[in-house]
Amino acid sequence: MELVFASNNQHKVDEIQAIAGNKFILKSLNDISCFEEIPETGHTFEANAGQKSRFIYDRYNINCFGDDSGLEIDALDGEPGVDSAHYSGSRDFQENMQLVLSKLGDNPDRRARFRTVISLILNGTEHLFEGVIEGRITKTISGTKGFGYDPIFIPDNYNITFAEMDAAEKNRISHRGIAVKKMVGFLNK
Ligand code: IMP
Repeated sequence: MELVFASNNQHKVDEIQAIAGNKFILKSLNDISCFEEIPETGHTFEANAGQKSRFIYDRYNINCFGDDSGLEIDALDGEPGVDSAHYSGSRDFQENMQLVLSKLGDNPDRRARFRTVISLILNGTEHLFEGVIEGRITKTISGTKGFGYDPIFIPDNYNITFAEMDAAEKNRISHRGIAVKKMVGFLNK
């Protein structure tokens, strides 16, 4: 089965293909020659994920899914949330992490979670899948793997950041891994 993933983030395409194995062939926006900027104007992960999948479905009439994810920090009232990609006003991972660390300062409440919502459109009907991983924000940047806020996030029951973890281990426990596995389970039914 072929499924279009409404993203050109090669990192995420690889992560999702690795999680899904050979359950489906993943096609990116490049693969279907879609070079338009997909609007992402919602105020929730659900709204943004749905915007992406509907955009592709409406134009190409193919089974597809979109996702939206981000980091929610309790002491920052859920920020950066849907603004995770450009929290500092820039898409630079280092600047976004520095902003989080400076806003938290020495605050002992470091509780946070990554959340992903996937909107799958299968034969015209939308299905939502959510994945959450709980953890805490470090005081310093640590590790070089992964992307985004990985170097400042330690998942519960671990003492290393996502950026110090092998990709396979991160995929096994991550928010995106959980959401993708739910979608794969649904597609298998
Ligand atoms: P997206 O909606 O999945 O593209 O994620 C939006 C932003 O959230 C990304 O640009 C990252 O800053 C952050 N983010 C999402 N997933 C992860 C992750 O697995 N690790 C680190 N940061 C992430």
